[in-house]
Amino acid sequence: MALSLCSPRFLIFIFLVSAIPVAYIISVERAKPPTHVFHYHSSGFFRECAKWDDQGRRFLVSFLEGGVGAIHVPEDYSPDLVLNEVTVVKDVDLTGNASLGIAVDRPRNRLLVVVADLLGNRYSALAAYDLSTWKRLFLAQLSGPSDEKSFADDVAVDAEGNAYVTDAKASKIWKVGVHGELLSILRSPLFSPKEWYKSLVALNGIVYHPDGYLIVIHTFSGNLLKIDLTKGEEVKLIEVAGGPLAFGDGLELISPTKLVVAGNPSGRLVESSDGWETASVVAKFKGPAHRLATAATVKDGKVYLNHLVGMGYPKKTHALVEAVF
Ligand SMILES: *[C@@H]1O[C@H](CO)[C@@H](O)[C@H](O)[C@H]1NC(C)=O
Repeated sequence: MALSLCSPRFLIFIFLVSAIPVAYIISVERAKPPTHVFHYHSSGFFRECAKWDDQGRRFLVSFLEGGVGAIHVPEDYSPDLVLNEVTVVKDVDLTGNASLGIAVDRPRNRLLVVVADLLGNRYSALAAYDLSTWKRLFLAQLSGPSDEKSFADDVAVDAEGNAYVTDAKASKIWKVGVHGELLSILRSPLFSPKEWYKSLVALNGIVYHPDGYLIVIHTFSGNLLKIDLTKGEEVKLIEVAGGPLAFGDGLELISPTKLVVAGNPSGRLVESSDGWETASVVAKFKGPAHRLATAATVKDGKVYLNHLVGMGYPKKTHALVEAVF
Protein backbone atom coordinates (compact mmCIF):
# COMPACT_ATOMS: atom_id res chain seq x y z
CA MET A 1 0.00 0.00 0.00
CA ALA A 2 1.26 3.45 -0.86
CA LEU A 3 0.39 6.51 1.13
CA SER A 4 -0.30 9.66 -0.79
CA LEU A 5 1.20 13.01 0.09
CA CYS A 6 -2.16 14.60 -0.63
CA SER A 7 -4.20 12.43 1.67
CA PRO A 8 -5.37 14.36 4.72
CA ARG A 9 -4.47 11.54 7.03
CA PHE A 10 -0.94 11.41 5.76
CA LEU A 11 -0.56 15.16 6.10
CA ILE A 12 -1.40 15.01 9.79
CA PHE A 13 0.84 12.02 10.14
CA ILE A 14 3.87 13.78 8.65
CA PHE A 15 3.11 16.95 10.50
CA LEU A 16 3.11 15.25 13.88
CA VAL A 17 5.60 12.45 13.46
CA SER A 18 8.32 14.52 11.80
CA ALA A 19 8.46 16.64 14.94
CA ILE A 20 9.23 13.70 17.24
CA PRO A 21 12.91 12.76 17.78
CA VAL A 22 13.83 9.09 17.38
CA ALA A 23 15.49 8.96 20.81
CA TYR A 24 12.21 10.00 22.36
CA ILE A 25 10.34 7.25 20.49
CA ILE A 26 12.78 4.61 21.69
CA SER A 27 12.58 5.78 25.30
CA VAL A 28 8.78 5.80 25.25
CA GLU A 29 8.62 2.35 23.61
CA ARG A 30 10.97 0.89 26.22
CA ALA A 31 9.35 2.47 29.27
CA LYS A 32 6.59 0.70 31.14
CA PRO A 33 3.37 2.45 30.11
CA PRO A 34 1.65 4.32 32.95
CA THR A 35 -1.79 2.86 32.11
CA HIS A 36 -3.03 -0.49 30.88
CA VAL A 37 -2.32 -1.32 27.23
CA PHE A 38 -3.79 -4.06 25.07
CA HIS A 39 -1.03 -5.03 22.66
CA TYR A 40 -1.85 -7.09 19.59
CA HIS A 41 0.04 -8.60 16.69
CA SER A 42 -1.26 -7.46 13.35
CA SER A 43 -0.79 -8.05 9.65
CA GLY A 44 -0.39 -4.34 8.92
CA PHE A 45 1.33 -1.19 10.15
CA PHE A 46 -1.68 1.13 10.06
CA ARG A 47 -4.95 0.70 11.95
CA GLU A 48 -7.16 3.75 11.72
CA CYS A 49 -10.03 3.00 14.05
CA ALA A 50 -10.88 0.56 16.86
CA LYS A 51 -14.22 -0.06 18.56
CA TRP A 52 -15.01 -2.44 21.39
CA ASP A 53 -17.72 -5.01 20.60
CA ASP A 54 -19.03 -6.00 24.00
CA GLN A 55 -21.13 -8.99 22.90
CA GLY A 56 -18.30 -10.47 20.89
CA ARG A 57 -15.68 -9.63 23.59
CA ARG A 58 -13.42 -8.25 20.89
CA PHE A 59 -11.98 -5.05 19.52
CA LEU A 60 -12.78 -4.44 15.87
CA VAL A 61 -10.16 -2.51 13.92
CA SER A 62 -10.09 -0.98 10.44
CA PHE A 63 -7.13 -1.53 8.11
CA LEU A 64 -5.68 1.44 6.28
CA GLU A 65 -4.80 -1.03 3.50
CA GLY A 66 -8.49 -2.06 3.43
CA GLY A 67 -10.36 -4.58 5.55
CA VAL A 68 -11.42 -5.20 9.13
CA GLY A 69 -9.82 -7.26 11.89
CA ALA A 70 -11.10 -8.69 15.17
CA ILE A 71 -9.00 -8.92 18.32
CA HIS A 72 -10.61 -11.31 20.76
CA VAL A 73 -10.02 -10.71 24.47
CA PRO A 74 -10.33 -13.98 26.44
CA GLU A 75 -12.27 -13.97 29.75
CA ASP A 76 -9.13 -15.04 31.61
CA TYR A 77 -6.99 -12.40 29.92
CA SER A 78 -3.78 -11.66 31.80
CA PRO A 79 -2.59 -8.05 31.42
CA ASP A 80 0.69 -8.99 29.72
CA LEU A 81 -0.79 -11.22 27.03
CA VAL A 82 -0.21 -10.02 23.48
CA LEU A 83 -3.43 -10.54 21.56
CA ASN A 84 -3.85 -11.48 17.90
CA GLU A 85 -5.69 -9.78 15.11
CA VAL A 86 -7.78 -11.99 12.81
CA THR A 87 -8.93 -10.63 9.46
CA VAL A 88 -12.72 -10.81 9.20
CA VAL A 89 -13.37 -8.56 6.18
CA LYS A 90 -11.30 -8.29 3.01
CA ASP A 91 -13.35 -7.25 -0.01
CA VAL A 92 -11.67 -7.83 -3.37
CA ASP A 93 -13.96 -5.38 -5.12
CA LEU A 94 -12.69 -2.61 -2.82
CA THR A 95 -8.99 -3.34 -3.34
CA GLY A 96 -6.96 -0.14 -3.41
CA ASN A 97 -9.24 1.59 -0.91
CA ALA A 98 -8.67 2.20 2.78
CA SER A 99 -11.06 1.26 5.58
CA LEU A 100 -11.42 4.15 8.01
CA GLY A 101 -14.04 4.97 10.65
CA ILE A 102 -16.17 2.11 11.96
CA ALA A 103 -19.30 2.04 14.12
CA VAL A 104 -20.95 -0.90 15.86
CA ASP A 105 -24.70 -0.76 15.14
CA ARG A 106 -25.73 -3.05 17.99
CA PRO A 107 -29.54 -3.09 17.52
CA ARG A 108 -29.04 -4.30 13.93
CA ASN A 109 -26.08 -6.58 14.76
CA ARG A 110 -23.88 -4.99 12.14
CA LEU A 111 -20.70 -3.02 11.65
CA LEU A 112 -20.59 0.11 9.51
CA VAL A 113 -17.29 0.71 7.77
CA VAL A 114 -16.18 3.83 5.91
CA VAL A 115 -14.28 3.10 2.71
CA ALA A 116 -12.23 5.68 0.80
CA ASP A 117 -9.59 6.08 -1.85
CA LEU A 118 -6.68 7.49 0.15
CA LEU A 119 -4.57 8.15 -2.93
CA GLY A 120 -6.78 10.08 -5.26
CA ASN A 121 -9.87 10.96 -3.21
CA ARG A 122 -11.91 9.57 -6.11
CA TYR A 123 -14.01 6.99 -4.32
CA SER A 124 -15.93 7.07 -1.05
CA ALA A 125 -18.39 4.52 0.27
CA LEU A 126 -20.08 3.10 3.34
CA ALA A 127 -20.28 -0.65 3.83
CA ALA A 128 -22.25 -2.65 6.39
CA TYR A 129 -21.42 -6.19 7.58
CA ASP A 130 -23.26 -8.70 9.73
CA LEU A 131 -21.41 -9.00 13.06
CA SER A 132 -22.02 -12.75 13.27
CA THR A 133 -21.35 -13.94 9.71
CA TRP A 134 -19.37 -10.97 8.31
CA LYS A 135 -21.58 -11.10 5.22
CA ARG A 136 -21.69 -7.71 3.50
CA LEU A 137 -25.20 -6.27 3.88
CA PHE A 138 -24.74 -3.24 1.65
CA LEU A 139 -22.18 -1.12 -0.10
CA ALA A 140 -23.32 2.45 -0.60
CA GLN A 141 -21.20 4.47 -2.98
CA LEU A 142 -21.02 8.06 -1.75
CA SER A 143 -18.80 9.57 -4.40
CA GLY A 144 -16.97 8.51 -7.53
CA PRO A 145 -14.48 9.77 -10.12
CA SER A 146 -16.92 12.30 -11.63
CA ASP A 147 -17.83 13.93 -8.29
CA GLU A 148 -15.91 16.56 -6.33
CA LYS A 149 -12.86 15.14 -4.57
CA SER A 150 -13.85 13.65 -1.27
CA PHE A 151 -12.49 11.59 1.56
CA ALA A 152 -15.04 9.68 3.60
CA ASP A 153 -13.57 9.44 7.05
CA ASP A 154 -15.79 8.55 9.99
CA VAL A 155 -19.31 7.38 10.73
CA ALA A 156 -22.01 7.58 13.41
CA VAL A 157 -25.36 5.80 13.50
CA ASP A 158 -28.63 7.20 14.91
CA ALA A 159 -31.46 5.39 16.72
CA GLU A 160 -33.26 4.56 13.44
CA GLY A 161 -30.13 3.13 11.84
CA ASN A 162 -29.34 6.08 9.59
CA ALA A 163 -25.61 6.59 9.18
CA TYR A 164 -23.78 9.91 8.97
CA VAL A 165 -20.43 9.87 7.20
CA THR A 166 -18.02 12.81 7.38
CA ASP A 167 -16.06 14.01 4.37
CA ALA A 168 -12.64 15.21 5.58
CA LYS A 169 -11.84 16.67 2.15
CA ALA A 170 -14.88 18.63 0.96
CA SER A 171 -16.28 19.09 4.48
CA LYS A 172 -19.77 17.72 4.20
CA ILE A 173 -21.81 14.88 5.73
CA TRP A 174 -23.52 12.12 3.78
CA LYS A 175 -26.70 10.73 5.31
CA VAL A 176 -27.24 7.07 4.44
CA GLY A 177 -30.48 5.22 5.21
CA VAL A 178 -30.82 1.97 7.08
CA HIS A 179 -30.67 -0.12 3.86
CA GLY A 180 -27.72 1.74 2.39
CA GLU A 181 -29.58 4.33 0.31
CA LEU A 182 -27.94 7.78 0.06
CA LEU A 183 -30.60 10.10 1.54
CA SER A 184 -29.02 13.54 1.55
CA ILE A 185 -25.86 15.59 1.86
CA LEU A 186 -25.51 18.07 4.72
CA ARG A 187 -23.52 21.22 4.07
CA SER A 188 -23.06 24.34 6.16
CA PRO A 189 -20.86 27.45 6.08
CA LEU A 190 -19.83 26.39 9.60
CA PHE A 191 -18.17 23.30 8.10
CA SER A 192 -15.61 25.47 6.27
CA PRO A 193 -13.38 27.91 8.15
CA LYS A 194 -12.19 30.92 6.14
CA GLU A 195 -8.45 30.15 6.27
CA TRP A 196 -7.59 27.73 3.44
CA TYR A 197 -5.01 25.77 5.45
CA LYS A 198 -7.61 24.94 8.06
CA SER A 199 -9.48 22.99 5.39
CA LEU A 200 -6.66 20.52 4.76
CA VAL A 201 -8.33 18.12 7.15
CA ALA A 202 -11.94 19.12 7.62
CA LEU A 203 -14.84 17.22 9.22
CA ASN A 204 -13.61 14.12 10.97
CA GLY A 205 -14.82 12.31 14.12
CA ILE A 206 -18.58 12.12 14.63
CA VAL A 207 -20.91 10.72 17.30
CA TYR A 208 -24.66 10.42 17.71
CA HIS A 209 -26.02 11.75 20.99
CA PRO A 210 -29.09 9.88 22.40
CA ASP A 211 -30.97 13.22 22.63
CA GLY A 212 -31.14 13.40 18.84
CA TYR A 213 -28.14 15.32 17.64
CA LEU A 214 -24.72 14.75 16.16
CA ILE A 215 -21.45 16.09 17.52
CA VAL A 216 -18.72 16.41 14.95
CA ILE A 217 -15.19 17.77 14.99
CA HIS A 218 -13.39 19.81 12.36
CA THR A 219 -9.78 18.71 12.72
CA PHE A 220 -7.64 21.63 11.59
CA SER A 221 -9.79 24.41 13.04
CA GLY A 222 -10.53 22.41 16.18
CA ASN A 223 -14.18 23.46 15.99
CA LEU A 224 -16.76 21.24 17.64
CA LEU A 225 -20.20 21.36 16.01
CA LYS A 226 -23.66 20.29 17.09
CA ILE A 227 -26.12 19.20 14.40
CA ASP A 228 -29.64 18.93 15.75
CA LEU A 229 -31.54 16.23 13.86
CA THR A 230 -34.78 17.15 15.66
CA LYS A 231 -34.56 20.75 14.36
CA GLY A 232 -34.04 20.22 10.64
CA GLU A 233 -30.33 19.49 10.95
CA GLU A 234 -29.57 22.90 12.40
CA VAL A 235 -25.80 23.38 12.74
CA LYS A 236 -24.29 25.27 15.69
CA LEU A 237 -20.76 25.91 16.84
CA ILE A 238 -20.27 24.54 20.37
CA GLU A 239 -18.43 27.05 22.52
CA VAL A 240 -15.58 25.11 24.09
CA ALA A 241 -13.75 26.59 27.08
CA GLY A 242 -10.13 25.45 26.87
CA GLY A 243 -10.57 24.90 23.11
CA PRO A 244 -10.38 24.95 20.15
CA LEU A 245 -9.79 21.22 19.84
CA ALA A 246 -7.20 21.43 17.05
CA PHE A 247 -5.90 18.05 15.81
CA GLY A 248 -8.94 16.33 17.24
CA ASP A 249 -9.66 13.15 15.30
CA GLY A 250 -11.93 10.33 16.53
CA LEU A 251 -14.70 11.00 19.05
CA GLU A 252 -16.49 8.81 21.57
CA LEU A 253 -19.30 9.69 23.99
CA ILE A 254 -18.65 8.07 27.34
CA SER A 255 -21.87 9.44 28.85
CA PRO A 256 -24.45 11.98 27.64
CA THR A 257 -22.33 14.77 29.17
CA LYS A 258 -18.80 13.50 28.52
CA LEU A 259 -16.95 13.23 25.24
CA VAL A 260 -13.46 11.94 24.53
CA VAL A 261 -11.50 13.50 21.68
CA ALA A 262 -8.62 11.37 20.37
CA GLY A 263 -5.80 13.04 18.45
CA ASN A 264 -2.96 15.22 19.58
CA PRO A 265 -2.79 15.44 22.60
CA SER A 266 -3.70 11.75 22.72
CA GLY A 267 -6.93 12.21 24.60
CA ARG A 268 -9.00 15.16 25.77
CA LEU A 269 -12.04 14.86 27.99
CA VAL A 270 -14.74 17.41 27.19
CA GLU A 271 -17.81 17.96 29.35
CA SER A 272 -21.09 19.77 28.81
CA SER A 273 -23.87 20.50 31.29
CA ASP A 274 -26.26 22.28 28.90
CA GLY A 275 -26.94 19.73 26.18
CA TRP A 276 -23.79 20.58 24.21
CA GLU A 277 -24.51 24.25 23.60
CA THR A 278 -21.30 24.95 25.49
CA ALA A 279 -18.61 22.63 26.80
CA SER A 280 -15.20 22.67 28.42
CA VAL A 281 -12.00 20.67 28.25
CA VAL A 282 -11.69 19.20 31.75
CA ALA A 283 -8.72 16.83 31.40
CA LYS A 284 -6.00 15.66 29.05
CA PHE A 285 -4.22 12.34 28.68
CA LYS A 286 -0.76 11.93 27.18
CA GLY A 287 -0.09 8.59 25.50
CA PRO A 288 2.58 7.44 23.00
CA ALA A 289 2.36 10.45 20.67
CA HIS A 290 4.55 8.90 17.95
CA ARG A 291 1.96 6.15 17.47
CA LEU A 292 -0.69 8.81 16.85
CA ALA A 293 -4.03 8.37 18.60
CA THR A 294 -6.85 8.38 16.05
CA ALA A 295 -9.91 6.90 17.77
CA ALA A 296 -11.43 6.24 21.18
CA THR A 297 -13.67 3.48 22.44
CA VAL A 298 -15.12 2.36 25.77
CA LYS A 299 -14.59 -1.12 27.23
CA ASP A 300 -16.23 -1.91 30.58
CA GLY A 301 -16.34 1.77 31.51
CA LYS A 302 -12.71 2.41 30.56
CA VAL A 303 -11.56 4.53 27.64
CA TYR A 304 -9.10 2.99 25.18
CA LEU A 305 -7.32 4.92 22.45
CA ASN A 306 -6.55 3.38 19.10
CA HIS A 307 -3.16 4.28 17.64
CA LEU A 308 -2.62 4.49 13.91
CA VAL A 309 0.94 3.23 13.85
CA GLY A 310 2.11 -0.27 14.67
CA MET A 311 5.75 -0.96 15.51
CA GLY A 312 8.09 -3.89 15.58
CA TYR A 313 9.78 -6.42 13.34
CA PRO A 314 9.06 -9.08 12.19
CA LYS A 315 5.78 -8.92 14.10
CA LYS A 316 3.97 -5.63 13.90
CA THR A 317 2.49 -4.75 17.27
CA HIS A 318 -0.29 -2.26 17.87
CA ALA A 319 -1.33 -0.60 21.10
CA LEU A 320 -4.79 0.13 22.49
CA VAL A 321 -3.93 2.41 25.38
CA GLU A 322 -6.19 3.08 28.34
CA ALA A 323 -6.72 6.81 28.79
CA VAL A 324 -7.13 7.79 32.44
CA PHE A 325 -8.34 11.34 32.98
C1 LIG B 1 -11.97 1.63 -4.76
O1 LIG B 1 -13.04 0.76 -5.03
C2 LIG B 1 -13.82 1.15 -6.14
C3 LIG B 1 -15.06 0.26 -6.20
O2 LIG B 1 -14.77 -1.03 -6.50
C4 LIG B 1 -12.98 1.08 -7.39
O3 LIG B 1 -13.73 1.50 -8.50
C5 LIG B 1 -11.77 1.98 -7.22
O4 LIG B 1 -10.89 1.83 -8.31
C6 LIG B 1 -11.03 1.64 -5.94
N1 LIG B 1 -10.01 2.68 -5.70
C7 LIG B 1 -8.71 2.45 -5.87
C8 LIG B 1 -7.81 3.60 -5.59
O5 LIG B 1 -8.25 1.36 -6.21
